[in-house]
Amino acid sequence: MTEEGVTLYRGLREVYIDRTTSSFINGKEGKLYYRGYSIDDLAQNCGFEEISYLVMMGELPTASELEAFSKELKSNMGLPQEIVDLITIVKDAHPMDVLRTAISALAGFDSEVDDNSSEATLRKGTKLTAQAPTIVAAHSRIRQGLDPITPDPKLSIAANFLYMLFGTVPDPEDAKLIDKDFVLHAEHGLNASAFGARVAASTQADLHCAVTTGIAVLKGPSHGGAAESVMTMSLEIGDESKAEQYIKDTLDGGGRIMGFGHRVYKAVDPRSLHLQDDLKALGERKGEPKWYSILQKVLEAMQPYARKGICQNVDFFSGAMYFLLDIPEDLFISIFAMGRIPGWTAQVVEQFDNNILLRPRLQYVGELDRKFIQISDR
Ligand code: ACO
Repeated sequence: MTEEGVTLYRGLREVYIDRTTSSFINGKEGKLYYRGYSIDDLAQNCGFEEISYLVMMGELPTASELEAFSKELKSNMGLPQEIVDLITIVKDAHPMDVLRTAISALAGFDSEVDDNSSEATLRKGTKLTAQAPTIVAAHSRIRQGLDPITPDPKLSIAANFLYMLFGTVPDPEDAKLIDKDFVLHAEHGLNASAFGARVAASTQADLHCAVTTGIAVLKGPSHGGAAESVMTMSLEIGDESKAEQYIKDTLDGGGRIMGFGHRVYKAVDPRSLHLQDDLKALGERKGEPKWYSILQKVLEAMQPYARKGICQNVDFFSGAMYFLLDIPEDLFISIFAMGRIPGWTAQVVEQFDNNILLRPRLQYVGELDRKFIQISDR
């Protein structure tokens, strides 16, 4: 061993690296707070515009503040033609790769790109929150050979996303579900993507770099990709009568059940509870109650694991919800990303406000002083 006496914190499990006022997860009791407000109150009473304001600005808006902020969001939903052209060039890539590429390229169109003041960062975060749904929807249409749709300023961000995706003004109930989903994804402590965003910010790179990093980190199935995997699992199960055996076979084979488990929650993720009844109602409304029934059977089969602290997380019900809204499966993670931009922005502002370079260490366990051999002699 070349570096002795080092304490390793693999996966940074239980390591606190700083202080925050953005959100708090009480993992033991399954509670979540944005800026001190319970997610239960927020999910029942606020739309995504209001939550974006709360998460980024730190306070619930007054009615006039919300009106002005919503106006600012809507006026920023459009994309430069060059970004639409870029999306067309990379249209065959995964939607998260397209979103990451387009957000990165938007840096070239923002005159404040290098301004890391809180004011400019919040302005840029507001713009990116508005632009992300337009990027995802435009990509979805372009790859089908359809023209992108211009956002409708009369609609909310969530309703606009569905409108720009499908070309028709959505059923208000459908739009409400996407809106709530955005609310539930807006901020969530030092998850892997927020950590990635903070690492970028800690080098004093700008918000576009940090959000691009956040999107890149979110893509993995251990983080944002689980909603898609849960739907794949539900499709493979196919019928509620087969759920128990499927779960047994997966676990016996050493596999994991997607939509279960969390680094911080050792109780049910409260966000999942807010989607549970909505999914049941949506399934009935669309005449497809079977997906909810399959997931209920999965929940029952996973009860022994719940007692060990492996419970359902936010992704468990969201995949089936997107599926019933006819959203293509490879777009599921992008919906998570759209909702999370306010959270990444809030944490980047915190990082800039009290910056320290995030630069942990690795214990070197390789050889030293190896004899160098010229290339011609190897
Ligand atoms: N299914 C079965 N067993 C599980 C699951 C699961 N979904 N999750 C954790 N476990 C078990 C592990 O096998 C391990 O058991 P062991 O100690 O006997 O080896 C134990 O629980 C601890 O698991 P770790 O991987 O050490 O826990 P970690 O905190 O690193 O992982 C993670 C968290 C990645 C989310 C994990 O629970 C997982 O892979 N879940 C499935 C994917 C998923 O749903 N991701 C979404 C997370 S929420 C989000 O990002 C929005």
